[in-house]
Amino acid sequence: MADLRPVDVLISAEDIQRRVAELAADIHRDFPDGVHLIAVLKGAFIFMADLVRHLEGRVSLDFIAVSSYAKGTTSSGEVRMLKDLDYALDGKDVVIVEDIVDTGITLSYLKEILKARGPRNLRTACLLSKPSRRKVDVKVEYIGFTIEDRFVVGYGLDFDEQFRQLPYIGVMDAGLYANIHAKQERIAHGSGEKMRKVGAPGAHLGEVGLRRVAHPYPHPAVFFGNGIGARAQV
Ligand code: IMP
Repeated sequence: MADLRPVDVLISAEDIQRRVAELAADIHRDFPDGVHLIAVLKGAFIFMADLVRHLEGRVSLDFIAVSSYAKGTTSSGEVRMLKDLDYALDGKDVVIVEDIVDTGITLSYLKEILKARGPRNLRTACLLSKPSRRKVDVKVEYIGFTIEDRFVVGYGLDFDEQFRQLPYIGVMDAGLYANIHAKQERIAHGSGEKMRKVGAPGAHLGEVGLRRVAHPYPHPAVFFGNGIGARAQV
């Protein structure tokens, strides 16, 4: 595994903490009687943990996990539920807590399925938003920071499951990014190198029919084999 480090700090830990406190104050102002937060795993786990510690009043929590994948080589953006909620939503004031809204496909799917469960209110808090990438027009009531089209890591966001622990939002090194991309191009063209299944460390898909990036983001590390999210070993 290459030693990958983000080189640029895009948003400092201090700025994040300040903004998260402001978002919590906005949420409390809108829901003074309390709120039910739903964090979208895994990316939102740190944002959720900080947000909840700034919230006054009654707060309950739940977690949901989804993964995005595409059909064929186009970015049709289907979303799959990996872990459902533990609690019902009827009559609750609910805020979805997301790390980043990029194309908006994941969030619009989530809002659709959660709305059908009868919450009194359903709003969304996203730490980051990349509006230039939007494919689906989805409303986000609480946005931490609006950023340009860069691939970011840290504060819960990952690159190949790395960097989630960083206290700041960083930008990947462009050179390393290019190297990874070149290696994965070789893999995609059948050089025989193996793929590792995300979520199953050490498991190898071997010579599967690899298709190029399923996520609409031009993320060089994401490939799909047999419909399963997979990333090249680097
Ligand atoms: P969307 O469905 O395109 O809006 O994608 C949302 C998901 O894509 C997020 O919850 C992240 O998991 C992932 N994602 C999008 N952009 C980035 C990024 O810059 N860094 C890390 N993950 C990202």
